[in-house]
Amino acid sequence: MAIEVAPLPLPPSADPSKFKHFGREVKGVHPGTLTPDQLEEIKTLLYNHDALLFRNVDLTPEQQYALTKAFDPSSESYGHGNNKTGETKKSILHPDLKTIPRVPQVQLIGNGTVYNHEGLAEARLKHPSHTTFHKTVVSPEDEAKGVTRFYRWHIDAALYDLSPPKVTTLYGLNVPKGPRQICRYDDGTGDELEVPLGTTAFVSGRTMFDILPKELKSLAVRSKVKYAPHPYVWMAPAKAKSTGLGIETDGLEMSLDELPPWEQAKIKIFPVLWKNPVNGELHFQVHPCGVQELLVDPLPAGADREGALYPDGAHLTDLGQVRDLLYRMQRPAIAPSLVYPHDWHEKDLVLFHNRGVLHSVVGAFKPDEVRAFHQCNLAASDDPVGPTDEDVKKWA
Ligand SMILES: [Fe+2]
Repeated sequence: MAIEVAPLPLPPSADPSKFKHFGREVKGVHPGTLTPDQLEEIKTLLYNHDALLFRNVDLTPEQQYALTKAFDPSSESYGHGNNKTGETKKSILHPDLKTIPRVPQVQLIGNGTVYNHEGLAEARLKHPSHTTFHKTVVSPEDEAKGVTRFYRWHIDAALYDLSPPKVTTLYGLNVPKGPRQICRYDDGTGDELEVPLGTTAFVSGRTMFDILPKELKSLAVRSKVKYAPHPYVWMAPAKAKSTGLGIETDGLEMSLDELPPWEQAKIKIFPVLWKNPVNGELHFQVHPCGVQELLVDPLPAGADREGALYPDGAHLTDLGQVRDLLYRMQRPAIAPSLVYPHDWHEKDLVLFHNRGVLHSVVGAFKPDEVRAFHQCNLAASDDPVGPTDEDVKKWA
């Protein structure tokens, strides 16, 4: 049977004109047993559409690992490294991840207690909630009415030493059914989004760039971000904005000499825009929580200086200023009409282009609601590629 594709079912909140490229459901093929030709076809589909959904598939951890690895055959270890002991215990990611013993690149994530699962006798899982991460929280009364928030918009990446995974696979095993929730932005805009319980929300990094005004496109195409060493440890004491899109600047981050030992050479400096390996489009790929500094190149020779920001380049080290600029560039793309909140069914596999989208956990479960997912991504064999000279000329 040939591979068939269909658009993803969009919720009424989404603006279909902004989802022409994003997302496809793939039918007629099993993602665990692809032939080499089918795999090539799936790769092209993934890079062109950034998220692929396979419904009702039975997928072993071995198959999930193999599929994920096929996108980067020389990648080997989990995106945050396979060894999550020792220094990373202080990391904010530590409690969210349980490794499948047989296939350590695959993580069990979710909520509630899972027994006798793929070699794990008992795994206590906790769905991350905004209440432990945001500076302000939804009141218990509103939470009881089903009000929630985006937890943290992010790219799956260590952002230190290891290179950001090319793809992530998320496979839903246990999906508790429950009432839909209202995801509130609480940033003074009045924005809110109705979401299925425990949705994973996606936005396109390509759209994030596309919708920017000229002066911010010019800034984005000329900029690089510098991440903190051990960014998830660094940010652990700090608190996030109510939209989950970055951190409030209250000076709570750990100082660099309090961090576990780190090396200058392992610090990541990435372009703001990452070039799509198949279609050459530019995706705005910044994990705002981990960024410390912004490095802006000057305008190229002959560019129009009228209205340009930092026409002569800049190295911004003021955390508040760096975050404000990034927020100005990223917030438009998480508007309710631009978010795809996936409505999980059991045995859904979502394969997403981790270098082309941002995503967020959403919602809150009660302690006895059991949700079990397998997640896999692999630290890549190379770093993302930024804009070409031609791109800079075109957009600066
Ligand atoms: Fe993630």
